[in-house]
Amino acid sequence: MNQLLIQNVSLFDRNDSLQKTDILIEGNYIKSLNPANFTQSNQCKDEIIDGSNFIALPGLMNCHTHIPMVLFRGFAEDLNLNDWLTKKIFPLESKLSEELVLYGALMGIAELIHNGCTFFADMYFFMESVAKAVDISGIRANLSLGLIDQNGEDGIRKAETFFNNYHLSSQQRIHVFFGPHAPYTCNLQYLKQISNLAKKLKTGIHIHLNETEKEVKDFEDQHHKRPIVALEEIGFFGQTSICAHCVHLDQKEISILKSENALVVHNPSSNMKLGSGIAPIPSMINQQIPVSLGTDGAASNNQLNMFKEMHMASLLSKVSSKDGSILPADTIFKMGTETPGQYLLNGKAGIIKENAFADIILINQSSPSLFPNVIISKSMIHSLQGNEVDTVIINGRIIMKGHRILTFDEKEIQKKANQLIQKTYLC
Ligand code: NI
Repeated sequence: MNQLLIQNVSLFDRNDSLQKTDILIEGNYIKSLNPANFTQSNQCKDEIIDGSNFIALPGLMNCHTHIPMVLFRGFAEDLNLNDWLTKKIFPLESKLSEELVLYGALMGIAELIHNGCTFFADMYFFMESVAKAVDISGIRANLSLGLIDQNGEDGIRKAETFFNNYHLSSQQRIHVFFGPHAPYTCNLQYLKQISNLAKKLKTGIHIHLNETEKEVKDFEDQHHKRPIVALEEIGFFGQTSICAHCVHLDQKEISILKSENALVVHNPSSNMKLGSGIAPIPSMINQQIPVSLGTDGAASNNQLNMFKEMHMASLLSKVSSKDGSILPADTIFKMGTETPGQYLLNGKAGIIKENAFADIILINQSSPSLFPNVIISKSMIHSLQGNEVDTVIINGRIIMKGHRILTFDEKEIQKKANQLIQKTYLC
């Protein structure tokens, strides 16, 4: 089995101090963590990375995005969600093709990798193209074909076929969930049907919940109850559930998310950009609800940078609660790594430990943003901007080294993607 040794790298211990460590990777997993320079080079038959100038962190996990939407970055600015979606995004999406989505997905994944992200949970369409981009790039992903009422039975059949063809594919780096878009685009019967299918296939769902005040009010006008209450009543939950946004919640809905063991995904930049509001994140964390982070798509962010998202989550909660001590660095870091790793991948991701997946990023310890370099603690996540990430390892394979992606020709993909955008949208 292929072995990779990261020698003499700085790793945070339980006390938040850096310890020099050797990380021995075998196949897809971390085989052992030893004191620095303990592991003899001749014990590792294959590649050795000199880690002496690096800090090793677990790869960041982006739990809600629409990765091909990098194609629309800058096309829809300064709008509320409703106008953003109906006046700009839907017309743009009507012209998408398999080819365009493949190139968009590769460019989106390139941005994730450059910023230290080793996993993303995606909901979109032309998902075969996204799966192909995941396969080519070497990243880990959870993929859902987005479904709305208009997709009907045909959409459900396509989602099931996508599940059958891609779940646990690409060396098991791909997991497939079902993606009913939201309670305002899917009726309750359709939501129930999709949830039942996910349960039958022993997989999960990925959905947008309570993103804006308007959608909650419209739902209440129609159903005389709040969306998450209605979902619980039809037995929608009960499987692994990725619930994006969860901005406008009452206490009953928070209790349902807790009792149904849903994973909440906080999208602070997107919620700020679209003026959607502020999710009650500290309250949910206090009630032991697993809360992760996501960028949402690039058209509503405009960056796919999980370091920025961790920083935004912290600042937004601090300013909205008028409490500078809320959501400290350790909590924010867990939201970006360990919590989703525990929830979505059985504790095998989002953490550097023996027998976990070898999903590791190496940060350049002498980066200006880490100065003074003598007092580094986990609070460094507030300073990191993403460009300090030098090396990215996913599933035991080096995907980026010296800031260069090794699995595909990024420049060539970018050139081709620009040509396709020009031809499709700007001619
Ligand atoms: Ni979204």
